[in-house]
Amino acid sequence: MSSETAHPMVKAEGVHKSFGHVEVLKGIDLEVAQGEVFCLVGPSGSGKSTFLRCINHLEQINAGRLYVDGELVGYRQKGDKLYELKDSEVALKRRDIGMVFQRFNLFPHMTAIENVMEAPVQVKGESRAVARARAERLLDQVGLADKGGNYPSQLSGGQQQRVAIARALAMEPKLMLFDEPTSALDPELVGDVLDVMRELAESGMTMIVVTHEMGFAREVGDSLVFMDGGVVVEAGHPRDVLTNPQHDRTKAFLSKVL
Ligand SMILES: Nc1ncnc2c1ncn2[C@@H]1O[C@H](COP(=O)(O)OP(=O)(O)OP(=O)(O)O)[C@@H](O)[C@H]1O
Ligand SMILES: [Mg+2]
Repeated sequence: MSSETAHPMVKAEGVHKSFGHVEVLKGIDLEVAQGEVFCLVGPSGSGKSTFLRCINHLEQINAGRLYVDGELVGYRQKGDKLYELKDSEVALKRRDIGMVFQRFNLFPHMTAIENVMEAPVQVKGESRAVARARAERLLDQVGLADKGGNYPSQLSGGQQQRVAIARALAMEPKLMLFDEPTSALDPELVGDVLDVMRELAESGMTMIVVTHEMGFAREVGDSLVFMDGGVVVEAGHPRDVLTNPQHDRTKAFLSKVL
């Protein structure tokens, strides 16, 4: 474990990403400290999801450096040359990073508890008894101790999203990425999901949260970055950025979402 060391959990240096001729990330520099809740906001198409996907190497970057917990994402450096890791090596590193999407993507043919048990059993080769015990604890943690036997179709959107969070936590990640986890939910279901995320933050988890929930960002976030057009426009403490934005683009965006 490296929790005693001082390096950031995520460090991006001049990260560029293009799809064909379209440059979507135009040099992202940022750091996420261990235990930090890092909120990422910005208009549609600004590159937020792409950046999250680069962090767990679902996308390759075209230039720059991206480190998670002090190690290059997707590459090994020898001298000043980079060598791409094998798929199996990437998969191993990806285990350390939990990801929760806007759409919950639960396995529809499995109950809630089976969804949470699946990766530890299939990927880590854990025994079903151990995986089940942890899954029960995690479902309890997200307020669904009594829903383990339900299939996704028998759960509300907010409950499904909380199962998705439990499923990500089952791999005991050191970093959690949330991509608009509440934006597909009916308004009355959002609070329960944010409560689970708040508790997770209080437990010390490092979290990068793409969200339009500015209340959450203000109360729970340690820092807030506003992205637009593939660059970081403004960054700072959420309270400062939200109450006293410095850039016109930030002001224009916040006037729409606040
Ligand atoms: N696989 C892909 N191929 C081509 N273009 C892509 C691909 N993925 C994303 N893009 C483009 O990259 C840009 C950034 O997309 P991205 O999904 O990262 O934005 P976002 O900030 O997450 O937006 P939203 O708030 O709508 O989720 C968009 O113009 C999008 O069309
Ligand atoms: Mg997105």
